[in-house]
Amino acid sequence: RSVGIIGAPFSKGQSKDGVECAPNKLRAAGLLDRLQQQGCAVKDYGNLTFENVALDEPVNGSKSVRTVGSANQRLSEAVKAVKRDGHTAVILGGDHSLAIGSIHGHTAAVGPVSVVWVDAHADINTPLTSNTGNVHGQPMSYLLYELQSKLPPLPNFSWMKPCVSSRDLVYIGLRDVDPAEHYIMKLLAVKVFSMTQVDQLGMARVMEETCDYLWDRAKKPIHLSYDIDAIDPSITPATGTPAVGGLTYREGVYITEYLYQTGLLSAVDMVEVNPLRGRTEDDVRSTVSTAVDLLLGCFGRRREGNHLPDYSLP
Ligand code: ARG
Ligand code: MN
Ligand code: MN
Repeated sequence: RSVGIIGAPFSKGQSKDGVECAPNKLRAAGLLDRLQQQGCAVKDYGNLTFENVALDEPVNGSKSVRTVGSANQRLSEAVKAVKRDGHTAVILGGDHSLAIGSIHGHTAAVGPVSVVWVDAHADINTPLTSNTGNVHGQPMSYLLYELQSKLPPLPNFSWMKPCVSSRDLVYIGLRDVDPAEHYIMKLLAVKVFSMTQVDQLGMARVMEETCDYLWDRAKKPIHLSYDIDAIDPSITPATGTPAVGGLTYREGVYITEYLYQTGLLSAVDMVEVNPLRGRTEDDVRSTVSTAVDLLLGCFGRRREGNHLPDYSLP
């Protein structure tokens, strides 16, 4: 279990300040120490720096496309390098537009992956269907082979090619989906466990069915893209687009425990933590510490307790 951490303090995929502070907040909450304490070798690759492209006028209504494009190109290279070094990649966002570079770089290094997208939102708008013009609501449409013909050419995105099949994508936690996004998911027959299915089946069955579905063809490395707004805002309020009726802390952690024990987790995004959005210090603390717990769960933390293999009684 070796973990390579990349900070991606990137916020131009949406309009609220603060998500760029999350990587350092997550580190300050003890993420690295705690991963090491549970037996992981950790390498911190530090924070990426991104250039602000001047004169980045909206393209088909989508904002900061050039800045988002070049930032993701940089992130894609960084994730590719971390994977080539043999680590499980952890990408600390930043807003969810960074999944474009993160998943692209992951597949560039390891080949086809399965994507588990845990989110209140589907983030599958195309630039032409988006109502907000925020690219963090669009990353999945850039990544899917099946939507390639629906994307207009975008400046600073010529480096990227779609790299995910809609058959290799599972959503968990959806509850705020735009009409066009719903149409796209039906059209492509994307596997979705919305909050309704979570209520119906319970998270244990959702995770079983997620893996059954993904492994039907072949077991591939898993890319977990975890938007903190998947969790109910009563627990993780410090985020830019909170949506009521979300996952409990326990359901959220169960996803990570379950994916850890598959042995296939190969990269994890933790995105949309915004330390400037909570109303109180406690709001921010609760959001950050939940994000840390989710990451610890991805690397073997169990609620039953853990001990290192070399432990001996004093
Ligand atoms: N569907 C909305 C949009 O297209 C909200 C997306 C929220 N995305 C997120 N990563 N928090 O803008
Ligand atoms: Mn979201
Ligand atoms: Mn998202």
